[in-house]
Amino acid sequence: MAPQISPSILSADFAHLASELERIASADWAHVDVMDNHFVPNLTLGLPVVEALVKASPLPVDAHLMIDDPDRWGPGYAEAGAQSVTFHAEAARAPVRLARELRRLGARAGLALKPATPIEPFVDLLPEIDMVLVMTVEPGFGGQAFLDVCLPKVRRARQAIRDSGLDVWLQVDGGVTPETIERAADAGADVFVAGSSVYGAEDAAAQIETLRERAQRHSHDGPVRT
Ligand code: DX5
Ligand code: ZN
Repeated sequence: MAPQISPSILSADFAHLASELERIASADWAHVDVMDNHFVPNLTLGLPVVEALVKASPLPVDAHLMIDDPDRWGPGYAEAGAQSVTFHAEAARAPVRLARELRRLGARAGLALKPATPIEPFVDLLPEIDMVLVMTVEPGFGGQAFLDVCLPKVRRARQAIRDSGLDVWLQVDGGVTPETIERAADAGADVFVAGSSVYGAEDAAAQIETLRERAQRHSHDGPVRT
């Protein structure tokens, strides 16, 4: 699959979200970070705002739920029209049931892993999900530095996806810049979240293009490079 770019509006101007979405219209997704101050030590926005964003967005919404009890709250984001809903493996009580419910409601189901959470216990769940999100920072805040220690997990996740023969996307989120995106793509990621590096750029569209080109140059649909 061609690399996809999903800019995170966490670094956007929250007072002007509709026009901030227009700035990233050339991307593939609008990544929306939902934080509840329980699962992560930060509070952002919730369902009513996501409902409004879905209506205003020129792009499909990629909701990243950094919340406790996604089993309870996750389906509402699919019902609100988010085309991708990603919940955390560490928070879900019944990930298979939740993923099935998200898909039933018409959303892609994503499973997110914090830096210290291994992929291996979840490999057998790949048929139930549409995307694995390997966090490349500790979730909670934008503008943190990319954690290279997460790259071996990206490689193992890519290998597991290849072995499964399934069309599961592999997303990375946190510290993605024109420099780090090359390493993430080399490791096998194909969907790239970037917050501060897109919204901090003078020309967001040009930055999206730069990220896309660099990811493309380092992408591989063939055998995993090590
Ligand atoms: C962090 C969020 C990210 C964040 C990324 O917990 O999940 O989506 O917005 O921001 P940058 O790209 O600035 O690291
Ligand atoms: Zn995110």
